[in-house]
Amino acid sequence: MFDTMTITKAGGALCAALLVFLLGGWAAEGLYNVDHHGEDHASAYRMEIHEDSDAPAAEAEPEVPFEEVYAVADAAAGERLWRQCSACHALNPGQNGVGPYLHGVVGRDKGAVDGFGYSDTLASMEGDWTPENLSGFLENPRQYAPGTAMAYGGMDDVEDRANLIAYLATQQ
Ligand code: HEC
Repeated sequence: MFDTMTITKAGGALCAALLVFLLGGWAAEGLYNVDHHGEDHASAYRMEIHEDSDAPAAEAEPEVPFEEVYAVADAAAGERLWRQCSACHALNPGQNGVGPYLHGVVGRDKGAVDGFGYSDTLASMEGDWTPENLSGFLENPRQYAPGTAMAYGGMDDVEDRANLIAYLATQQ
């Protein structure tokens, strides 16, 4: 009744079906296992969700990079902040007070005013007062330059710092 070819085909089909069945079962078991051992995974997952749900709160105080704020800084607003510095600093070239004169300070070498008695910290600092460096120093002078003689508490607001530095940059 059946010729060899039919039997071979039927056998092949059966094997294929079996294979699909086995693979299917294996895959299902794999999935089931993931779900099942899932206690750990599930809590890790919950933690992730939890972290995610915290994200909007963290974004409430976004860490805007200084460069971006500086790119749109308002020198006129910065001039009003200069009052916080003018007790100790003058802008006229060569006129040192409690602090060194700040004419042309943006881009100037750190600790480079002739005739001003810098602290060892500032005298030995490398590099220039780029806007970024000034921002770091003004945010927290004692942290940026441990041992500095500048008795100024720091300017927290990044916009204020950007505006003030933009104003200083006009004094070249
Ligand atoms: C209480 C006085 C005082 C105030 C207020 C003050 N400074 Fe200073 N500043 C100093 C002294 C003193 C130094 C020298 C620091 C040292 O040698 O460690 C200095 C150093 C600096 C330097 C480094 C200059 C250089 O030549 O390397 C910069 C920049 C500067 N001040 C900017 C400012 C700005 C901007 C403000 C206002 C936000 C300000 N300072 C407020 C006293 C002051």
